[in-house]
Amino acid sequence: MPLSNSAVRDIETLVHPYTNLALHRETGPLVINRGEGVFVYDEHGKAYLEGMAGLWCAALGYGNEELAEVAARQIRTLSFTHLFGGKSHDPAIELAEKLKEIAPSPMSKVFFTCSGSEANDTQVKLIWYMNNALGRPQKKKIISRIKGYHGVTIASASLTGLPNNHIDFDLPIPGILHTGTPHHYRNALPGESEVDFATRLADELEALILKEGPETIAAFIAEPIMGAGGVIIPPTTYFEKIQEVLQRHDVVLIADEVICGFGRTGKMWGSQTFNMQPNALSCAKALTSAYFPLGAVMIDERMYDALVSESRKIGTLGHGFTYSGHPVGSAMALKTIEIYQRERIVEKVAAKAPQFQKRLKALADHPLVGETRGIGLIGALEMVADKASKRSFEAKKMIGAMCVKHCEKEGLILRNLPNDAIGICPPLVISEAEIDLLFDRLTTALDKTEADVSAQNLRAA
Ligand SMILES: Cc1ncc(COP(=O)(O)O)c(C=O)c1O
Repeated sequence: MPLSNSAVRDIETLVHPYTNLALHRETGPLVINRGEGVFVYDEHGKAYLEGMAGLWCAALGYGNEELAEVAARQIRTLSFTHLFGGKSHDPAIELAEKLKEIAPSPMSKVFFTCSGSEANDTQVKLIWYMNNALGRPQKKKIISRIKGYHGVTIASASLTGLPNNHIDFDLPIPGILHTGTPHHYRNALPGESEVDFATRLADELEALILKEGPETIAAFIAEPIMGAGGVIIPPTTYFEKIQEVLQRHDVVLIADEVICGFGRTGKMWGSQTFNMQPNALSCAKALTSAYFPLGAVMIDERMYDALVSESRKIGTLGHGFTYSGHPVGSAMALKTIEIYQRERIVEKVAAKAPQFQKRLKALADHPLVGETRGIGLIGALEMVADKASKRSFEAKKMIGAMCVKHCEKEGLILRNLPNDAIGICPPLVISEAEIDLLFDRLTTALDKTEADVSAQNLRAA
């Protein structure tokens, strides 16, 4: 098909995030112009089931009238005011109260950002600031994990443990360390149980802390489930053991709930699903169901007290974004959380999860699939060249991209993740019939991918 008028103009004007810019000049974009429920529609009117909720974020799907009304009302009442210099407004105050009320562990205060990346950058800065306040200027290093995803701003991209976020961006910055990925299928030793694997990962973390010197390690940041790294579910007992190590060395635990927060795993927070008791928490995305760019950082009492004493000394907390606590975003987040609670969205996720996970697990029998993994309404399947040896396809064969393209042809949007894993993360409001439709289309796409792989002999090493 020739490129549409919009596609030609796109190529002439836009730099696309996370896109092969050279290839894009030939293939052009998929132009999505409308959404309703769990479906989006391209410029030609073709419907796609949005199996990724956009970027793991459109939890309530598309076209929610209540949210549209709240936005319009707030814009009419007060389109902008801010929180700098001690100014405030009711939507931000109410939203902070609500977040404290539902937080997975006792949180003292909330700082607002516009994105998950800004939330995690803020975490890094607040931790550094705190440890200066506490008179331990050496305690500044932050540990994250290989394959963890924490965003793309300079500190957040450094925390992210994926090569494409570092290569030729001259990252990571100094003082950011990466420890092992809790992926049993790929990283466990032969015969190693999940429990033993978790113990080994905690031991490795402790060895790293001891090697660097506990007096230099400030924080550990982790997503309850690694999302963009491939939807990696931690082995049983992992976070319990990790937290014992952190507590022994007075290392703060930051939960990056940007994907898991607000019901994705079948509980309000991933931290609750995996027994995490974070000292600090980042959230974004489903905070407004992606109807407005908004992120939040929650911190506990000790961190807050330190910020107070340091800002007293310096004269100000010299950090904040123009749109920190934007009144429209705050009002929309409040309405979003009200809808989650009123409609019992989290309980409904837990109720729909068995069907979703059963359909996902059934794909493990497919000749292309090495592993399926998931919890709640999130999952992935990892395609391999050889199931018995778990040998991956060569990256340059781009099997994941091929599969996602077949999904697109079938009217399904999914995401190609590292190692030819296909991510699935639909809006939380997806119905049971739509879950079946999603997996029916995915099965067809997998069959077509398998046909291409066989016809082109792509399994050859
Ligand atoms: C776990 C996690 N943290 C942080 C981010 C970064 O958020 P943003 O893209 O809003 O900056 C993401 C984005 O996908 C994420 O998945």
